[in-house]
Amino acid sequence: MITINENFLKLQASYLFSNIAKRVSSFQNNHPEIDIIKLGIGDVTKGLPKVCIDALHKAVDEMADDASFRGYGPEQGYAFLREAIATHDFQNRGADITADEIFISDGAKCDTGNFQELFDQDITVAIPDPVYPVYLDTNVMAGRTGNYQDGRYQNIVYMDSRKENDFTPQLPEERVDLIYLCFPNNPTGSTITRDELAEWVAYAKENKALILFDAAYESFISDASLPKSIFEIAGAREVAVEFRSFSKNAGFTGTRCAYTVVPKECRAFAGKGEKYLLHELWNRRQCTKFNGVSYPVQRAAEAVYSDEGQAQVTELIAYYLKNAALICEKMEALGYTYAGGANSPYIWVDGKMKSWDFFDMLLDKTGVVCTPGAGFGRCGEGFIRISAFNSYENVKNAMERIEKLL
Ligand code: MLT
Repeated sequence: MITINENFLKLQASYLFSNIAKRVSSFQNNHPEIDIIKLGIGDVTKGLPKVCIDALHKAVDEMADDASFRGYGPEQGYAFLREAIATHDFQNRGADITADEIFISDGAKCDTGNFQELFDQDITVAIPDPVYPVYLDTNVMAGRTGNYQDGRYQNIVYMDSRKENDFTPQLPEERVDLIYLCFPNNPTGSTITRDELAEWVAYAKENKALILFDAAYESFISDASLPKSIFEIAGAREVAVEFRSFSKNAGFTGTRCAYTVVPKECRAFAGKGEKYLLHELWNRRQCTKFNGVSYPVQRAAEAVYSDEGQAQVTELIAYYLKNAALICEKMEALGYTYAGGANSPYIWVDGKMKSWDFFDMLLDKTGVVCTPGAGFGRCGEGFIRISAFNSYENVKNAMERIEKLL
């Protein structure tokens, strides 16, 4: 008899964004006349930067010619892209990361979901609440949690992020082994200072713990005093892994390219305390389970680091941040308090009612889609997340509809 991994039965019926997509599509079927504006899932709407398109075209032509054709690439990614990343995203910011510590992948979602495979079933996992659901769901699938009760899984240490702590998770009071952090935060848009991040690094050292640091939204940081990478913090190389993506800065949500940084000193331990290097384990895992990102896509990602590419990406980010500023201004004028929006594409609004009620009201009465905060965890109840990823015209139109309603 073929039996299933019963941990899957503990999961909530459907993934948050699939659930929302289903509701929106059923609403659209019932109201074909309504022009829906999506400010829900953080999916970009502007075309890829021209430098990326040019690089893609060129690489596709190379693939047509026997002399320049490429078959299987290195599982870790091509050196040209890994080197560009190490120089521009890390060394130029004073973070000591080398090209061979970078693993190119097809998404930060996959990497943040897969990395937990390297760890024992019995570790204690600390996860922020509210949180990007992937961290939690993948630990549920792996069997590290008990059942779901009163909006929470047993055996997880939840780090509450509420108004009182500026929606920033605080150091757990108990000892934990694996810590998920995301800054700028999804969903709350909160940020972390260097000093605060240094406290997490110190905690991880002291407790022989590991931090999985999701920096998928780092390009939205406009405040120069804020760290973009955990590797800007002294000592982080031993205790942290970082996830980055080309999705939100260069619009690769449909093109797929991301990377994970695993420094060579980064360690975890076997049962008797023997130290093992995660770089070797992740490399082993990737070589078995992953065959790399396509050559044209890696060339397109490399183009982001040219001078022109940097200018085009800066323009894209500024475009979405202008949308975010408009959303903040309008929601504030309507008497709502919010977090995020300044160094983040997400605005976390206190909806003053149940999250899903606010979601339904907005969809039914205005055709605007947001994300209900409760979908990100118990502490998200009462909040909604508004995404700045859409055209300025659509965001303006959405805000006008919301102004009329509220
Ligand atoms: C979100 O809306 O939270 C993100 O777009 C989801 C993702 O990047 O996977």
